Amino acid sequence: MNANLDPAFWDPARAHLVRYGGSFAPVIIEHAKGSYIYDAEGRAILDFTSGQMSAILGHSHPEIAEAVSQAAGKLAHLFSGMLSWPVVQLAEALDAILPAPLSRSMFLSTGAESNEAAIRLAKLVTGGHEIVAFAQSWHGMTGAAASASYALVRKGYGPAQPGSFAIQAPNAYRPAFGDPDRHDWKAELDYSFELIDRQSTGGLAAFIAEPILSSGGILDLPPGYLAALKGHCEKRGMLLILDEAQTSLCRTGTMFAFERDGVAPDILTLSKTLGAGLPLSATITSPAIEDAAHEKGFLFYTTHVNDPLPAVVGLKVIEILLRDAMAERVQVAGARLEGGLRAIMQRHACVGDVRGRGLLLGLEIVKDRESRDPDHQRGDRITAKCLDLGLSMNIVRLPAMGGVFRIAPPLTVSDEEIDLGLSILDEAIATA
Ligand SMILES: Cc1ncc(COP(=O)(O)O)c(C=O)c1O
Repeated sequence: MNANLDPAFWDPARAHLVRYGGSFAPVIIEHAKGSYIYDAEGRAILDFTSGQMSAILGHSHPEIAEAVSQAAGKLAHLFSGMLSWPVVQLAEALDAILPAPLSRSMFLSTGAESNEAAIRLAKLVTGGHEIVAFAQSWHGMTGAAASASYALVRKGYGPAQPGSFAIQAPNAYRPAFGDPDRHDWKAELDYSFELIDRQSTGGLAAFIAEPILSSGGILDLPPGYLAALKGHCEKRGMLLILDEAQTSLCRTGTMFAFERDGVAPDILTLSKTLGAGLPLSATITSPAIEDAAHEKGFLFYTTHVNDPLPAVVGLKVIEILLRDAMAERVQVAGARLEGGLRAIMQRHACVGDVRGRGLLLGLEIVKDRESRDPDHQRGDRITAKCLDLGLSMNIVRLPAMGGVFRIAPPLTVSDEEIDLGLSILDEAIATA
């Protein structure tokens, strides 16, 4: 019997686990190391999604394991009103790699939580309550974060928070304004804000954006877009929140994705990559905003706020990224991966587009290049075939888009592993 089908595992799994996201992958994962996860048959599966887009240093990194083990034996958790050295040191380490005035941090556990804190800060400081986001966004599953998320299923869960608005994210492959040769994102953005102004009751608080919309199908905001977006926000007294859950800490070839544009947000949120797979997130803002919020009695009191153990992990992650010049390595590795994906696109007509930055790349599956009609069934077949062949891939499906593979191996991936992943993907597309 295939050990991945063991009824001693699947019978209690079916009996006792809530199914929170469709069906589970048909494998039992026993352990993980570097760029590979290992199933119950002892098979090595190349992880091209860094777990849930988080394990940027690969799995079971020895220095992270050592940091966790030491912190667990020394100081893991505290009363939420108490501070410890690792928390202050992590705030300092972030200040050192961020542009001014982003110098004040609070640490939480998940991406959704970091966005809840950012949205609460923005509401309190501006006095507004209206939050604008992209119609292809994902900011998390909790109240305010889910209200600002439009890539996920909204139907069936009752009303979103009052004052939740969305605009189209720019999509050069399927432009809403102009045509694929001349995507007029500026006209699209200006028009979108005209509509926001019509709908607003005067309480605009913030725009929340991902620099590259990941669950939205790897939509990279074109150069100049962030500056124009910030201009629209400033004109209306809104704050700009950037959610760099997936794009921060060298993932795109720079420490933060917003560096490419030279536009800093008013509030920055980090999560997935900051803990490199362990639960750590941050909400970071300027002294002016933090002071204003504190004066108004800002409250975001949680059980695990500023816990020392995850802070030790965050510090170690930043130390390794800087020591190993990871941003430069990602530029080289990303170019290799993107080159390989473009070669695959040339060989297979069902690949409509390759896009993204650094080691966060997207590959869109369509029926044919002319119609650009989505081909979700083929996307699902390719995903299953990849897993059969030893490659873990993640595909997202959105309305009016093809299935988009989000390809994001650990930043520590070797050239050989990139080439192996590409050859498996090529074979899977050819046979699926
Ligand atoms: C951009 C972005 N923000 C926030 C989140 C939510 O993070 P979490 O699932 O840790 O709450 C995600 C999760 O996929 C994300 O991709």
